[in-house]
Amino acid sequence: MKVLVVGSGGREHSLCWAIAASPLCSHLYCAPGNAGIALDAECVPIAADDLDGLIAFVQDNGIEFVVVGPEGPLVLGLVDRLDAIGVKSFGPSAAAAALEGSKGFTKDFCARYNIPTAAYKRFADADAARAYVRAQGAPIVVKADGLAAGKGVTVAATVDEALSAIDDAMIDNRFGDAGAEVVVEAFMQGEEASFFALCDGESAIPLISAQDHKAVFDGDLGPNTGGMGAYAPAPVMTEALAKTVMDTIINPTVAGMKADGSPYKGVLYAGLIMTDEGPQLIEYNVRFGDPECQVLMALLLSDILTAMIAAYDGVLGSFDLRWRPDSALTVVMAANGYPGSYAKGDEIRGVDEMGDDDLVVFHAGTVRDNGGRLLANGGRVLNITGMGPTVSAAQEKAYEAVRKIDWPGGFCRSDIGWRAVARESEG
Ligand code: GLY
Repeated sequence: MKVLVVGSGGREHSLCWAIAASPLCSHLYCAPGNAGIALDAECVPIAADDLDGLIAFVQDNGIEFVVVGPEGPLVLGLVDRLDAIGVKSFGPSAAAAALEGSKGFTKDFCARYNIPTAAYKRFADADAARAYVRAQGAPIVVKADGLAAGKGVTVAATVDEALSAIDDAMIDNRFGDAGAEVVVEAFMQGEEASFFALCDGESAIPLISAQDHKAVFDGDLGPNTGGMGAYAPAPVMTEALAKTVMDTIINPTVAGMKADGSPYKGVLYAGLIMTDEGPQLIEYNVRFGDPECQVLMALLLSDILTAMIAAYDGVLGSFDLRWRPDSALTVVMAANGYPGSYAKGDEIRGVDEMGDDDLVVFHAGTVRDNGGRLLANGGRVLNITGMGPTVSAAQEKAYEAVRKIDWPGGFCRSDIGWRAVARESEG
């Protein structure tokens, strides 16, 4: 089977790494890919949101299966366009991708199907949103309705902070059309976890859980990023809690989307918070998490491509996934300055020599120059992924490798996995 993966980050590198190992895959392409992906797939210079370019490439090259990594092309309708030309794919239709594409859609959906999530109100008028925030008080959460590259959510500690978030989105148009509407919702307290399920429109099977670290600095301090590291499985997600999540959140969502005429296919990523009232949904994403995908792929023993095809064909019900009985932990190395402005083009040494059964380096923002030197080419640049019998062992393996990388222009957090490591040392 000729397969195309769409995207260029660490998530897509880990997907290409896993798909390249599938006996079903005869040739793997990635659009546009990066320097690390080029080791596992043939990279083609088509942007992930260039739907016309992707469709032309699929038709001209006889691609038989397309795996869509990021949310952008899903919300724009890439899967619908592929369906229209009879090509199978992994990911939801545009209508089903509204679970990530519109926060308001998701909150209304949860309300209709009784899915546990914070109380909320939607606003298309800034004055009304401000009045609601003043009446509710802080802490309170303001979310731009549409896709805002991970920057559209403000957890406001004060009313003033919430009011500025409303102004940013609705008056200053910081997120363009994505901020024309906002959702204001109650603040929830608890430990967060990322929960993933493969869905085939009718049924869902859970993957192992993961936890990521969004804050840029050690101790979960500083501004939020796309994720500075992750590990799996997440000890906070016990078997009993995972069952509750499937029963109260994932299965009702799959059933509700089907009943509403937009069956959900692909991976459903539930951002959860463990509250005193049980697990609650913070938000849905319609794709794998980045960098959570990297630790999931590191531990998956089953053939991911077969599972993705089963999701498209609607036969996941009889599927069982096997996992390596270990932990995996990934440390994101980012360019100095990220998530603010940063330089591109610094040379990175020491990466090409790395990798063994317990260590894999996934590339996020990298490129090679004509001389073959590896250069930084983004904010998040490398994902150093260790595996071991415990999160502590996986952490040690990852940081041992980080110390060998020669890249003065980069930095990473030194405490990825701290919650799980503390739990392990408490015994
Ligand atoms: N790691 C968070 C995300 O992928 O949205």
